[in-house]
Amino acid sequence: MKKEIKEKFTELYGGDGVLFVAPGRFNLIGEHTDYNGGFVFPGAIDKMIMADIRPNGTDHVNVYSMDLGEKASFGLNEEDAPKEQWARYIFGVCREIIKRGGRVNGFDAVFAGNVPLGAGLSSSAALESCFANALNELFNDNKFPRMELAKIGQSTEHNYCGVNCGIMDQFASVHGKKDNLMRLDCRSGEFEYFPFKLDGYKLVLVDSRVKHELVDSPYNKRRESCERVAKTLGVDTLRDANMAMLEAEKDKISPEDFRRAEYVIEEKDRVLEVCDALEKGDLQTVGKCMYGTHEGLSKLYEVSCEELDFLNEVARDCGVTGSRIMGGGFGGCTVNLVKEDLYDHFIETAVNKFAERYGHEPKIYPVIVSDGARRYEEQ
Ligand code: GLA
Repeated sequence: MKKEIKEKFTELYGGDGVLFVAPGRFNLIGEHTDYNGGFVFPGAIDKMIMADIRPNGTDHVNVYSMDLGEKASFGLNEEDAPKEQWARYIFGVCREIIKRGGRVNGFDAVFAGNVPLGAGLSSSAALESCFANALNELFNDNKFPRMELAKIGQSTEHNYCGVNCGIMDQFASVHGKKDNLMRLDCRSGEFEYFPFKLDGYKLVLVDSRVKHELVDSPYNKRRESCERVAKTLGVDTLRDANMAMLEAEKDKISPEDFRRAEYVIEEKDRVLEVCDALEKGDLQTVGKCMYGTHEGLSKLYEVSCEELDFLNEVARDCGVTGSRIMGGGFGGCTVNLVKEDLYDHFIETAVNKFAERYGHEPKIYPVIVSDGARRYEEQ
């Protein structure tokens, strides 16, 4: 990837830029809890966006996307928003830095990525984090702390891309650390690294290749449901709610909103249970909670789809320890916790059964927990 990017940069702009990378993320547990002030438990993965960037001494940005074979140019004022959807992620990052009192001048860039698009692995957060980190380094002498870089990415989604997302994806892409998961308290912003070792087990993503697209998806509607219930219960977020409170106000809440809140309340406890279990090396409990999350996301939160429910069932039938839909939903991957001696059998069964039923094979990505956004250095 690096060589092609460098060659394209020279061809388009002459000379050389500085290389930056930022990864996608996976999440062990804690789904749709971030915008409810709860906990999440993600890690950065080995799939990333890589960008070659160089200030160009003007007030214009020129970017080339290798994967799309498209170029976009834009100015840095609010009215200069590019028409290309993909370029709005980069424009948004520039604008959010400027709005926070930072500096961005014109630059030339070429980027490419191997984070599968629409698979729930946060390719958009990787793109935002890559540019937020790079522009912070190139123009601001690293003025913004890393959590602010994550917020710059999140505000980009809110203000320029139409997704009212939480902080998990950008947080994980910015803060990722090789071989570590991170437990983030999304209310306080405090987080801890958890050295992640899976003795005798593997984690693997099975990508249904059903494209998920959070823009225009019911994602924002889910968030609205949660906010409505929080308001009815008189709390800031569902982090401060429990089932007794929810039951007590049942007649003021629509059955649909009730199901959404029930899922969130159960999920926030599952994250803590998983952290405890991991510390004790109790992977059976981790797995049980993962199945619980799938059940909740499918039946109560209703963000699964037939293909992902099918993959979950195949995992269960094979005796896989834990399996669940991962990320925002409406397509994408399942994340699976599999005993090493079952691994080959599970992958073969999942690939064959899925292909038989849906006419195409799912993609398989073993989880490799990696570092977060950074200047690229040769290993
Ligand atoms: C998407 C959002 C995140 C989070 C997850 C669900 O990935 O970007 O903020 O809400 O969905 O856990």
